[in-house]
Amino acid sequence: MSLNPPLADWRDRHVWIVGASSGIGAALAAALHERGARVTVSARRLEALQALGRQHPGLRPIALDVTDATALAATVERLFSSHPPDLVCYCAGHYEPGGARELSLRGWEQHRAVNLDAAVALSLAVLRPMRARGHGHLSLVSSVAGHRGLPNALAYGTTKAALTHFGEALHLEMAPLGVGISVVTPGFVETPMTAVNDFRMPAVITPGQAAQAMLAGWARGRFMIDFPRRFTWWLDLLRCLPYAWYFPLVRRLTRR
Ligand SMILES: NC(=O)c1ccc[n+]([C@@H]2O[C@H](COP(=O)([O-])OP(=O)(O)OC[C@H]3O[C@@H](n4cnc5c(N)ncnc54)[C@H](OP(=O)(O)O)[C@@H]3O)[C@@H](O)[C@H]2O)c1
Repeated sequence: MSLNPPLADWRDRHVWIVGASSGIGAALAAALHERGARVTVSARRLEALQALGRQHPGLRPIALDVTDATALAATVERLFSSHPPDLVCYCAGHYEPGGARELSLRGWEQHRAVNLDAAVALSLAVLRPMRARGHGHLSLVSSVAGHRGLPNALAYGTTKAALTHFGEALHLEMAPLGVGISVVTPGFVETPMTAVNDFRMPAVITPGQAAQAMLAGWARGRFMIDFPRRFTWWLDLLRCLPYAWYFPLVRRLTRR
């Protein structure tokens, strides 16, 4: 059953990808551009966006630090007053591995600022015009790390759990108004973000494969777009376990 209006034909659709200078966002921009979408890409590193634009002529780069509330509001205003995006994908993310021993308040604030506060600010800003038009789709890139408490991702997992919750609550409110809301929960993807991991990442996929999975999820009108299924299936199972089973099993699996 489709939980969102399916998005399959990208010709002449306008897509704004926030966090597109590398990894999943950059691969997504390339894939959407190939399918005929008009793609606007944002991130802090303008040179990286411009290099992407040279590989895919027509891509529109806009430099944006999402933690700058004034710049964020001005960019939303600029985009929605000319050619409003049909899809806004919030792909920006911040990740530093670690648990309570490693986490500082400063580190927590950095995770919260990018993974949650800016995602909320952008969502509220783009949903206003989408609601008024009864058209548009907001997709939030969260993570399976937000499904349940896991070791070594204390701040990252907590902010992603909150983002997933935010997306769920938004879907309940926006679906009756004709506005699509989806939450993307990837497993491990080989990107600059995960290059810091010093462990073997199970079922790791490429950014290109992640982009294809997202396109397939939007085409089916899915709310939760999780991939690769061979990995996320196990996490779905862990989600259902009572704590008395969950804690010892996760300790054993992660050798904690
Ligand atoms: N890789 C994985 O295994 C994995 C798994 C689950 C979820 N995810 C999520 O997928 C998304 C993309 O991550 P990725 O793996 O593709 O990593 P990545 O290559 O490091 O991409 C992160 C993107 O976020 C942007 N960003 C970070 N801070 C920003 C800020 N203050 N303002 C604007 N843009 C900012 C970065 O651009 P600039 O540095 O140029 O600003 C970059 O384009 C993230 O939300 C991540 O949490 C990744």
